[in-house]
Amino acid sequence: MKRMLSGIKPTGRLHLGNYIGAISQFKKYQEEYEMFIFIANEHAITVPIEAKDLRKNTKDLIALYLASGLDPEKVTIFLQSDVPAHAQLGWVMTCMAYMGELQRMTQYKDKTAKGESGVTAGLFTYPPLMAADILLYDADFVPVGVDQKQHVELTRNLAERFNHRYSDTFTIPQPLTSTVGQKIYSLQDPEKKMSKSATDPKGTIDLLDDPAAARKKIMSAKTDSLGVIRFDPENQPGLANLLTIQSVLSGEPVESIVQRYEGKGYGDLKKEIGQTVFDFLTDLQARYRDILDSGKADEVLKAGAQKAAAIANKKIRKVYKKIGFTV
Ligand code: TYM
Repeated sequence: MKRMLSGIKPTGRLHLGNYIGAISQFKKYQEEYEMFIFIANEHAITVPIEAKDLRKNTKDLIALYLASGLDPEKVTIFLQSDVPAHAQLGWVMTCMAYMGELQRMTQYKDKTAKGESGVTAGLFTYPPLMAADILLYDADFVPVGVDQKQHVELTRNLAERFNHRYSDTFTIPQPLTSTVGQKIYSLQDPEKKMSKSATDPKGTIDLLDDPAAARKKIMSAKTDSLGVIRFDPENQPGLANLLTIQSVLSGEPVESIVQRYEGKGYGDLKKEIGQTVFDFLTDLQARYRDILDSGKADEVLKAGAQKAAAIANKKIRKVYKKIGFTV
């Protein structure tokens, strides 16, 4: 069975983009692959975050993974910091990476280009840590949204460099982006991706938003004045975004939705999507609350860390031997 691995940073409230671009993919693939899904809390501290917020986000994220249908019997779910081999291999990968290639990573480039103060060294060395996450488990595939593809490409380069320098050690992973929903855009500015850090709350639907408020956000989503329902991301990006959301949440192909709405207006379509989002969030949040109340999350994380560590520790021992850390 091929292996698959992915993770999400607990930096803020999860949104529909994270669900569609990542979690719904994990859910789909858990049947076919040996799957490792983790909470990237070491990546979360590359930007300042209060301990209490990190704790809360982490709890929410694990409960949302489970509420979304990830099955701990099939998926190893764990916390990055519970497996020290991530930080250990992260350092080795930092020493394999060149300054130039890290400077080209868009996440870092964007922050520095905006002249933001307080950009940490951790934000700069974030991609080699991500490479370590993936390579420790010899993942064949990494399902991510399109914004993370560049980091998986870098991971491939670092793995090849290591294999070449020290002999074959790591599987070369492939990024996997879905055909629909690899990038969900802001509802208010369809040029920008939906993001945890966006300043306009009307543009983002959080998975823990009040479902009625979320429906309103759909109703007031920015579209265009062409008045024709088509899937045309280039000329009608707002509409295409809404169609994508509807398609992923309902399972109905985009073309079929477009067909059903031939000759109809945006208002009707938005009503249907608003209802889909309302129902989706209502169900998800009910399961999320049950999971939080049950204390199940702690058990899942404990078992997950044990399973993950067994694999990761073996790998880091192999790496340490190859690079000359064992005498
Ligand atoms: P993060 O936490 O920013 O995002 C988690 C996942 O959600 C996807 N995503 C989106 N997909 C579609 N539309 C959007 N608007 C949208 N916004 C976010 C992201 O592409 C991602 O798949 N560096 C990673 C976490 C990480 C990781 C890893 C992932 C750390 N180590 C190893 C895979 C493998 C991150 O910050 O994702």
